[in-house]
Amino acid sequence: MKHLIDIKHLTNDEILQITELASYYEDHVPYGTQKKKQAGSVALLFFENSTRTRFSFEMASKKLGFSAFNFDAQKSSILKGEGFFDTLNNLNAIGCDIAVIRHSKEGFIEELAKNEYSYGLSLVNAGEGKASHPTQALLDFYTLKKHLKTVENKKIVIVGDIIHSRVAKSNIELLNRFGAHVVCCSPSYFEDWTLTSAKYEPNLKTALKDADAVMGLRIQKERIETRVPYAQYIEDYQINETNLPQSAILMHPGPVNRDVEISGALLDSDKGKVIIEQARNGVFVRMAVLDLIYEGVKR
Ligand code: CP
Repeated sequence: MKHLIDIKHLTNDEILQITELASYYEDHVPYGTQKKKQAGSVALLFFENSTRTRFSFEMASKKLGFSAFNFDAQKSSILKGEGFFDTLNNLNAIGCDIAVIRHSKEGFIEELAKNEYSYGLSLVNAGEGKASHPTQALLDFYTLKKHLKTVENKKIVIVGDIIHSRVAKSNIELLNRFGAHVVCCSPSYFEDWTLTSAKYEPNLKTALKDADAVMGLRIQKERIETRVPYAQYIEDYQINETNLPQSAILMHPGPVNRDVEISGALLDSDKGKVIIEQARNGVFVRMAVLDLIYEGVKR
């Protein structure tokens, strides 16, 4: 792997290799760092807000013994007119091996990776617009496998703002490949008509029936121009103590808007613990991703 830009670029074997290495790191690097002979340097370039992804990439880098550098876009020379590609070339010249990028523009990271100029930097997509969030899908897959053993023939229901969700799109791509039955549930104004690879069920009660896992999604206010009828949304689509099936695990990529997509009481119950575990698992999965990319580049 030189880059990680989209789930579609990974084979099933590579996905399983990432989850196996993440599991190794979960068991063997509980705290502190694993010093590598030749440590890599990771630049974290986030042009959209983030808590979990940025911190877990930084934590993953440090646990591997890599150096991690946060790029402050507001204080960078991009504001003096420097282009993104030139910025990356310079970061590489200074000594960065991997650039972890979050950006609102879809297809941006792939375009950077295709650039005809050559540079040695590996690029990792840390969330791109509404289109893709591959490491979130990988950590969700890792979490699902820990709880359900396999996703094959499991019913996984994704509830909420599907159309604006990069997490939903990357998860659907990955979960379909491993034989899961993915059902999307949302009001029509959040349905993504282009997503033909997942079943759509507008009624929450019907969608949740016999679910093995339920993923809530945040309403992405920053990407919505029209008014969302919040009160009606909560009444019809909030996941709570009365509608979540007993046997289903509850997931959410975060950040959660408490009492909107999931009730506060459910979040604070045992059912809410898997959501926090997802954030923790993100560190191991991102360690695996950074390690495999770094080893691939140096080989
Ligand atoms: N799940 C996720 O991407 O969270 P952040 O936006 O906090 O990184």
